[in-house]
Amino acid sequence: MTQVRHYLQFSDLNRDDYQYLFQRAQVLKRRHGSGELYRPLVGKVMSMVFEKNSTRTRVSFEAGMSQLGGHAMFLDANTSQLGRGEPIEDTARVLSRMSDIIMIRTFEQSNVERLAANSRVPVINGLTNEYHPCQILADILTFIEHRGPIKGKTVAWVGDGNNMCRTWLQAAKLLDFKLKAATPVGYELKALDGQHYGPEHFEPSHSAEHAVAGADLVTTDVFTSMGFEAESVARMEAFRNYQITADLMKHAKPDALFMHCLPAHRGEEVAADVIDGPQSVVWDEAENRMHGQKALIEYLLLGRVDD
Ligand code: CP
Ligand code: NVA
Repeated sequence: MTQVRHYLQFSDLNRDDYQYLFQRAQVLKRRHGSGELYRPLVGKVMSMVFEKNSTRTRVSFEAGMSQLGGHAMFLDANTSQLGRGEPIEDTARVLSRMSDIIMIRTFEQSNVERLAANSRVPVINGLTNEYHPCQILADILTFIEHRGPIKGKTVAWVGDGNNMCRTWLQAAKLLDFKLKAATPVGYELKALDGQHYGPEHFEPSHSAEHAVAGADLVTTDVFTSMGFEAESVARMEAFRNYQITADLMKHAKPDALFMHCLPAHRGEEVAADVIDGPQSVVWDEAENRMHGQKALIEYLLLGRVDD
């Protein structure tokens, strides 16, 4: 099988790739905003496989593919043969003979790895239990648009040591910023990639105030991620003191941004006056899923483009 480039974890691309992608995403965003039609992917098809719910991921990939001149096809577990036990390896062989790129949202990271290992075309991780690289691509794009380069900055994570938090950690090392993560006892972040994360890139604690102190960006996520619903009662109790409130935001830099990948639960992980307040950039962040992914898809299919 020929060598195909996949995007399964944030660390699948290097610093130089990201520098290109952030710049390219802003170019594509401007061109789309000005009404220009740019359709390098006419005739190309994306298969999108969803084993978990989605609003942003589905719409951003589908809209992005259409804008680039291609087409995106939605498959879910309930109505495809995946839900009736067809192996992911066989699914990969079939989808990759009829489409040019595949996006999958699933449970275990090993599912996307097995899909990629049997695919002739690039595979993109649209969220697993372990990682959510497309979201962090959008989040850092959003930070850059509002505040400039993220290198040397401090990102505060408050809440679950989950897929989002773990992807922030990979990004911190790759793009050279610091992640201060405050998680409740028992919900600490565990790196799963065998990498060493030194104190210049990762400062874990159990204190939300400590994490947020001096931060340039404060971010959080739901207490209970998809697939972990059976734990939600215990989690609600464990995360009681991990809400991002206006008082907590006062510990961050005065110009700190607030981000949330969404969907959000006002009054649980974030207070309404924070997510709906002046420091919040969550709607830009959501929109940037589409612009960042358009740059990513173009890169995986066509390589670096400078027109
Ligand atoms: N942030 C995100 O991935 O949103 P969806 O679950 O709606 O796709
Ligand atoms: N951590 C959340 C992110 C949702 C976009 C989840 O996995 O459900």
